[in-house]
Amino acid sequence: MDDAVLRVENVVKEYGKAVKTRALDGVSLSVGPGEVTALVGPSGSGKSTLLNIIGLLDRPTSGRVVLGGVDTSKLDERGLTALRGRKLGFVFQFHHLLPAFTAVENVMLPAWGDGGVPTAAMRAGAEAMLRDVGLGDRMSYRATDLSGGQQQRVAIARALATRCC
Ligand SMILES: Nc1ncnc2c1ncn2[C@@H]1O[C@H](COP(=O)(O)OP(=O)(O)OP(=O)(O)O)[C@@H](O)[C@H]1O
Ligand SMILES: [Mg+2]
Repeated sequence: MDDAVLRVENVVKEYGKAVKTRALDGVSLSVGPGEVTALVGPSGSGKSTLLNIIGLLDRPTSGRVVLGGVDTSKLDERGLTALRGRKLGFVFQFHHLLPAFTAVENVMLPAWGDGGVPTAAMRAGAEAMLRDVGLGDRMSYRATDLSGGQQQRVAIARALATRCC
C-alpha cells in the first residue's frame, strides 16, 4: 500500500546475548491514513516490543519500519529523535508530564523541542487541543494540581499536538 502512514516489514527482535529471546518473529503490517488499529495479544506476546520499535524508541534486530515514506532503518539517533518529535505521539500508562509545568506548557513541549522558543501559534494549537479533551478551564494549572484523569487527558492532548503546532 503506497499511501500507508506506517509500514512494518518483516521485523525481528531478539533480546539478550547468551540467552536469546525472540520477541518478534517477522512481523509485517501496514496502516493507512485515518485508520485506527488495535494491537491485541496475550501477556508476553510482544506488543510493547513492537510499539517501542514502531515508536522509534528501540531498533529491530532485522527488518524495517517505514513511517510516512521515511525508511527509519537509515536514520541515526538524531534523525530518529527529530522524526519522533514531529510525527509521533505517545500516551503512556504513566503519563510522564513535567510536574513544574502547566497543562498548556506540557502540551506545547513536543513542538517547542530542545532549545526552541515557544510561539503564539504553538500556544494556540496547544490550547485548542486542551479544549478538545475538555480541559479548557485547566490550561494554567500545574500538572501536579490536576486529577489523574485530567493528567491523562493532558497527555492525550500532548500526543495529538504534533498535528497542530
Ligand atoms: N529487555 C528485555 N530483555 C529480555 N527479554 C525481554 C525484554 N523485554 C521483553 N522481553 C521478553 O520479550 C517478550 C515480549 O515482551 P513484551 O513486553 O513485548 O510483551 P507484551 O505483549 O507487551 O506483554 P504484556 O501484555 O504483559 O505487557 C516476553 O517474553 C518478554 O519476557
Ligand atoms: Mg506490554
